[in-house]
This record gives sequence, C-alpha cells and structure tokens, in this order.
Amino acid sequence: MTGTGSWRDTAHAKVNLSLRILAREVSGYHQLETVFQALELGDGVELELRPEPGVALSVTGVAAGELGPDGDNLAVRAARAFLDRAAEGGSPPSGVRIALEKRVPHGAGLGGGSSDAAAVLRGLNELHGDLLEPEELLALGGALGADVPFFLIGTPRALAWGRGDRVLPLPSLPPREVVLAVPGQGMATPLAYRLLAEHRERVGAAAAPPALVTVGNDSWEAVIRKAENDFEGAVLPARPDIRRLKDALARTGGRPALLAGSGAAVFGVFSDEGAADRTAGELREGFPGIRAIRTRTLA
Ligand code: C5P
Repeated sequence: MTGTGSWRDTAHAKVNLSLRILAREVSGYHQLETVFQALELGDGVELELRPEPGVALSVTGVAAGELGPDGDNLAVRAARAFLDRAAEGGSPPSGVRIALEKRVPHGAGLGGGSSDAAAVLRGLNELHGDLLEPEELLALGGALGADVPFFLIGTPRALAWGRGDRVLPLPSLPPREVVLAVPGQGMATPLAYRLLAEHRERVGAAAAPPALVTVGNDSWEAVIRKAENDFEGAVLPARPDIRRLKDALARTGGRPALLAGSGAAVFGVFSDEGAADRTAGELREGFPGIRAIRTRTLA
C-alpha cells in the first residue's frame, strides 16, 4: 500500500456488567471473568498516513486535559507496534498522524485508552489493505492492554476471561439509558488491583472462584441479578466519594449501579429516559466537582 490515506471512527467506552477477579498469576496479572458492555459515549479517532516515519498525536475534546505525555499514550503505542510490524512484513515505511477527540474520561474504568488503541489498530490495518489477519491484530492488541481485544472485536457485548483478552461475543441486549458519575479524582488500574490484593489479605478472602456468568445472562433482568464488581469491596472503603456516588445512583433507580471496571467512575443503568435525565441533574447539583455523563448502551 501507499503511505497515504485517512480513516476515522468512534472509539466507544465500556462498562463491565459483571467483573470477577480470580487468581493472581506468577506474572502479577490476574485471571478474570467479565461481561463487557459498550456505550454510545466514545472518542473520535482520526488517522492520516504520511510518508515521513513516526507517530504524531494531537488531542482535543472535553477530556483532553487529563492525558499524560504522548509517549505513554496507548494510541501512540498501538500505532508504533503496528507500524513496526508492517515494516517487518516488508511494507514501505510510513508514519501516521493521530487526532483524538477525547470525550471519555481518563482513569475512570471506562476503557477510553484501550478503545483508542483498538481503533488505531483497526484503522491502520484497513489503511494497509488488511495486512494483518484478525488473530495477529488481537495478539498485538492484547499485548497493549487487557481491554483492547474486546474493542477490536467490536461487538456491543462480550464475555471475556483469561487476562480479559479471551473474548466471546454475546448477543446484544436492547439499548438502555446510562448515567456515568465521574469523580474528580481518578483511579489507576494497578492501584485498584493492589487495593484488592490488600483487602483480600486483610479479610482472609480467597480469590473469587470462576462463575459461569453467561448462564441466564441473556436479559437485562438476569444481568441485574448477576451484576457485581469484585473491586467494589476494596475500592469503596478506600474512596468514600465513590461510594456516595454509587449510593446516589442506586437510590435514584440505577439497576445495576456499579463501579465501572477498576474505577473511579460508577454507572447506573435505567430503562426510563426521564429517570436517567433527572438522575444526571441531581448528581450535578448534589456533587459539585464530579462529572455526570448521559449516554446509553450500544446494541
Ligand atoms: O492491561 P492493563 O493496562 O489494563 O493493566 C494495567 C495493570 O492492571 C497491569 O499492569 C496489572 O497490574 C493490572 N492487571 C492485572 N490483571 C489483569 C489486568 C490488569 O493485574 N488481568
């Protein structure tokens, strides 16, 4: 392929309708079992190939201010990994300009960085005439982050296990309204895992045993019954501000109302648009310094 061309798409956010953290591997990584659900909320991702090698990043959008240095950005690391692989495969060297419009808050457990990385991999692969097979792209994505394979597969809902990198699409559910409550202070994923390990040690709790989360998991009613997040037991005691947001979402009718991934955001699912709008309004009034975002699940 030539070293030019452009591509754009939306990199959707996710929540975990159920998240169970199982045993810790010798590597330090944890086995887990989760049901991912994609949200309408997403970042805009635009790619432009160019003949000069290297990756250039520009970031705009409401959540742009929260990002660290470009070199740490998962989208940039994804682009470098792909372009290195393409060059090994004999493609003429090229670079890429990435323009991100960040709407998904950082450090919230909503998978924003992983979704951007997955979009970059999908886009670059298309711009290179589907150079990599889907399995190769998944392997490349899984090495970047545990949530990246879910976003690469692109289904609205999926069961994931292993480190989160084994993904099985699930039938999507009818769309529901979502309210996200995002505290001013984020939560780094490694810290959430550390809090969980300390919590388990303190209370003498064993790692959760695997559960067949898909059984009877094909309706919102079943999803609500099975909704749980193992991080809550460790993160909520350490972060009362997050607990208050979860309680507020549950009080106004969020079913489920749950920590998003490893936090710090919490989400509430509503079947009624008015109730979701009212909840977002009440959160904005009652909790200055947080962001309340209205979105819905993708179907
Ligand atoms: O893959 P991701 O970038 O989300 O992981 C961030 C950190 O979270 C890892 O460095 C690791 O400490 C922890 N983690 C884990 N087990 C997983 C996924 C992440 O311990 N399955």
